[in-house]
Amino acid sequence: MRIPEETVRQIQQTADIVDVVGDYVSLKKRGANLTACCPFHNEKTPSFNVNPARGIYKCFGCGKAGDSVKFIMDIEGIGFPEALRHLAKKYGIDIPETEQTPEDVAAQNERESLYIALNFAKKFYQEQLTQTDEGQSVGVSYFKERGFNDRTIGEFELGYSPEQWDALTKAALKAGFSLDILEKAGLILRREQDGKADAKVFDRFRARVIFPIHNLSGKVIAFGARILKADKNQPKYLNSPETEAGGVPLYHKSNVLYGIFQAKTAIRNDDVAFLVEGYTDVISLHQAGIHNVVASSGTALTLEQIRLIGRFTPNVTVLFDGDAAGVKASLRGMDLILEEGLNVKLCTFPEGHDPDSYVRAIGGEAFKAYVRDHATDFITFKAQLSLDEAGNDPFKRAGVIKDMVESIAKIPDAIKRSVFFQQTARMMGIDEGILIAEANRKFLTEKKKAAGRHSAGRADNRQSRIEPGEIPDRDSPVEGFTPDEFEIAPSPQRSVLSRHEEEFCRLLVCYGPRELEPGYTLMQYLLDELGTLDFQTPTHQKILTYARQSFARGEVPDAQEFLGHPDEDIRQESIGLVTERYSLSDNWVQMHQIHTPNEIELLDRMAHGNLLRLKKAVNEQRLEAVKQALSQTADAGEQEALLTEFMKIKRIDKALASELGIVVAG
Ligand code: CTP
Ligand code: MN
Repeated sequence: MRIPEETVRQIQQTADIVDVVGDYVSLKKRGANLTACCPFHNEKTPSFNVNPARGIYKCFGCGKAGDSVKFIMDIEGIGFPEALRHLAKKYGIDIPETEQTPEDVAAQNERESLYIALNFAKKFYQEQLTQTDEGQSVGVSYFKERGFNDRTIGEFELGYSPEQWDALTKAALKAGFSLDILEKAGLILRREQDGKADAKVFDRFRARVIFPIHNLSGKVIAFGARILKADKNQPKYLNSPETEAGGVPLYHKSNVLYGIFQAKTAIRNDDVAFLVEGYTDVISLHQAGIHNVVASSGTALTLEQIRLIGRFTPNVTVLFDGDAAGVKASLRGMDLILEEGLNVKLCTFPEGHDPDSYVRAIGGEAFKAYVRDHATDFITFKAQLSLDEAGNDPFKRAGVIKDMVESIAKIPDAIKRSVFFQQTARMMGIDEGILIAEANRKFLTEKKKAAGRHSAGRADNRQSRIEPGEIPDRDSPVEGFTPDEFEIAPSPQRSVLSRHEEEFCRLLVCYGPRELEPGYTLMQYLLDELGTLDFQTPTHQKILTYARQSFARGEVPDAQEFLGHPDEDIRQESIGLVTERYSLSDNWVQMHQIHTPNEIELLDRMAHGNLLRLKKAVNEQRLEAVKQALSQTADAGEQEALLTEFMKIKRIDKALASELGIVVAG
């Protein structure tokens, strides 16, 4: 089944790279490009880049690169023709079908064959549901009883497997699928008997309603199948087994979130994902107009699932079933979400309700309002629950403190951490210092352990990520902030100096009007300290000049003014600065209403550290220039002058270094 050249070209031209990649990750604008955390490898700072003008992507972390078609091949694990077909379907482009030659079939990789078989099964189950009497009277009536309408049934591609041993097997064999493929796809079971290899072949799912499980791009990768009548001898749900093709997992239960395909656009738009437990919770909420919902499908939440959500939003609200035991059990998995840097909220429902039953009881709008009013951030929720349990028992309360410290210490963002320490301390009626001290103690113990194992633990990673010109000015990540947390993601084209300039601009744009002391803004501090120094990156210089001019007029522009600046460069750069993942956005500050002395202190220290690093980087450049000049002159008088200059710069360098808390050699 060759795809004509012309159609290939049409597909390549239509498949917009931003749109295609956007099906799998949320892209953020950064200058002329877009970036995201790479979907091909695990990372926390985005190194995956998309260039819309050229229609290509490239990851500076793992090296994957190409155009739209290559992206689909890589991420779906399929070949070129199959990737074209995938895109043709997405964009409604017709591929003239010709006969499939045996060579074509042979060329299809195993993964493609499995997708095709699974898709065949999905269609089969759908037809059984809608086109047969049994499907109508058993399957459809069941769904109707649960309140699902036809549209919902269609959107989730629900189906029905008839009460027969081999209905699907027969149909699939007739359509040309081999038993091997059907078995690999997890659709059938084969039993040997009396030495005969396939004496018994039968369908895995029988007399059940079918919930296809889709991957991000909407391909079916597995099925969940629910029994219709309560039967103690049979499990309520049967699921596809874990499958793989060519050694790469196809359906791996713990990597999948049910409903992600139907939910991802809403998750991105609403900037929050609702996490529920079951298939039916997802579907009921969706039908009620709440589309940003995914399910972990009964298992404890896994890291892969969390990262999948993280591709679309940093905000997760976990919607729990009513009973307290379940809530407590699930809290354990929650630390994992914190560690990934997601913002977690929890919402419970009245006793006896799950999200499915509750939304059906009160309707979509009321449900949304309920979640809005009842979702509590995870830390507060956990602290409250544990404190209630501990009562006045001092030992139990001490245990709660340890527990809370452990959770909070997992939050990668230092400023959020600091806010939670304050809040928790207040709730517990103890001094914040006690919590921080406990966290530091824990951190040091772990660091020692890690060092003993020579493993690349967190602390070691940090060290290795610090650039040569950088000086870590502190060692504990817990109390305040760590140097690299606010550093710009390493980028091959950018100098150390340019990164410090950028950080300067970020502080200026995001927090310029903040008062470090009454009447003394951060902007004034930054400008005072910088003196007459200019920046080398043109856009940074533009921002600096604008700040200086404003200040001379007695104005202190805020982020909005930078974002709305008539100069395109300033606007673009400001967008990047306020949307960087490491920045503490004003929005966040407003949301959580943190205006505490502690936060101001952090800003003060960040600004101070930045200025020192910036000056040191400039100084180092000068030193290099003098060295260059020295090596090029033979004139004794000139050499003398240069040497004096050299010594002077070196002295400044030393002073800066010692203020940054280190000693440099020589
Ligand atoms: N589950 C499973 N196998 C079971 C029970 C549950 O795989 N024997 C998974 C399913 O993904 C299910 C989820 O765990 O959706 C939550 O279980 P439960 O709350 O019992 O199912 P619901 O989706 O609420 O199903 P229903 O409302 O139809 O009972
Ligand atoms: Mn249920």
